[in-house]
Amino acid sequence: MGNSSASSLSYMKNVWSTLVKLNLNTVLIPIYWELIEPSEGEFDFSIVDSLIYQARENNLRIVVLWFGSWKNSMSCYVPEWIKTDQKRFPRARDNKGNALEMLTAFSDNNLHADRKAFQQLMKHIAKVDKAHSTVIMVQIENEIGMIPVARDYFNEANIVFRQGIPMKLINYLEENKDNLMPELRDLWAANGYRKEGSWEEVFGKSKSTDELFMAWHYAIFVEELAKAGKKEHDIPMFVNAALIREGYEPGQYPSGGPLPHLMDVWRAGAPSIDFISPDIYFPDIEEWCRKYDQKGNPFFIPEARREGEAGMKAFYVFGNHNTMGFSPFSIESTDNPEEDLIGKSYDIICQLVSLILENQGKEKMAGILLDHNKKQEEIVLGGYKLMVKHDFTLGWSPKAKNETWPLSGVLIINIAPGEFYVAGSGIVINFKTTKDDNSKAGIARMDEGEIRDGKWISGRSMNGDQSHQWRHLRIPESVYSIQKVRLSVIFSVKVKRAG
Ligand code: DGJ
Repeated sequence: MGNSSASSLSYMKNVWSTLVKLNLNTVLIPIYWELIEPSEGEFDFSIVDSLIYQARENNLRIVVLWFGSWKNSMSCYVPEWIKTDQKRFPRARDNKGNALEMLTAFSDNNLHADRKAFQQLMKHIAKVDKAHSTVIMVQIENEIGMIPVARDYFNEANIVFRQGIPMKLINYLEENKDNLMPELRDLWAANGYRKEGSWEEVFGKSKSTDELFMAWHYAIFVEELAKAGKKEHDIPMFVNAALIREGYEPGQYPSGGPLPHLMDVWRAGAPSIDFISPDIYFPDIEEWCRKYDQKGNPFFIPEARREGEAGMKAFYVFGNHNTMGFSPFSIESTDNPEEDLIGKSYDIICQLVSLILENQGKEKMAGILLDHNKKQEEIVLGGYKLMVKHDFTLGWSPKAKNETWPLSGVLIINIAPGEFYVAGSGIVINFKTTKDDNSKAGIARMDEGEIRDGKWISGRSMNGDQSHQWRHLRIPESVYSIQKVRLSVIFSVKVKRAG
């Protein structure tokens, strides 16, 4: 949801029906510290209750975003009684000693206040929701990270920076020495794998070391919240990151956030956090997915750019990355949800949801994105070779002459030997066998259809022109659909002529 939407129940009134029309099953909703604890120690959860009840009425699940100490690095959601008492609740400082619009992570008062509010929130959610599980996960804070400098120069931070590096981190590094993220391993190796010393002695003097230091301290701060929250209500908790713009250094981008190169530091410092996740606004979604979908990090995308093509990206991440979810930001921002392209994709994904869950992690699914830069990709799935091409490679659409092609996306599920569900838009697939034995993959049957109440309902048989006379499976550009295809294997036998 947009940042401010959930702060007003009357604003939300019209939003629920939009979410339903977009065919969502879950929505990420901020809960704002300033609104639930307007005066110190006095909590008002009425807005939380209403949001939960309304989600339930609309058959939606909630992922709570805890907008506590930090939101996009800043502290805009802390209550007024904190904002106005900088002595008790100190701010982070830049390298010239200037106080910033963000709480420092190096203050017990700051930590205790946030932890108390978060713990109360989780206690309340447990009370009203444990039996229902409308709230299924919680994101703690939002896009944490230090800007505009790579580390905090608050007094206490300077002291801790000069002290010895925590044993807990060193132990983690030693235990995972052969399996560390390369950036961290290289920094540690360059300084001789030291087991003690200050941050700069162990990792060298650089912005990267400043960043490691911040990552550790954000992680141990968040760990305190996660631990306290899970004690009240043990549901998955995660953190999200603003990604790195090309050429940017720590401090230019939020330094120390839960980024892939800092995955080990976050794991060591915040073991109660179940996973780290990316907010992907950049076009190179495949690369960022690879970076987060590794080393057993459960995969989830809490934010992505809200654009028509987001639906294509959803097909890709569900098919290729076993994602738990894909969440375009400010999803309610549409005047015409029935016609919204994202809604069309989610309709298809919702139909496939049981099949997706059944096949996650089993190498039975694939997801592919194609455009003018990457026009085709061959994959092997279920023992067949699938050449997946952009619809425009056929040259049948006049738009194929354009320099740029719209993004096409497909999610393929292998449901039985030689049988596939293919869902998406703007693709053509040719099937081949993987054997070198003169065999060819033919199409035995191919239908368009829908899955309703768990049952496949066939629509048109895609014979004739729709499959170029059984040559391929095609879902044209701007058509969103599911097709079910069953392959047959044919052999071309070389016949020896007599004489
Ligand atoms: C990323 C943040 O996490 C969101 O809360 C929001 O500010 C978006 N950026 C806006 O693009």
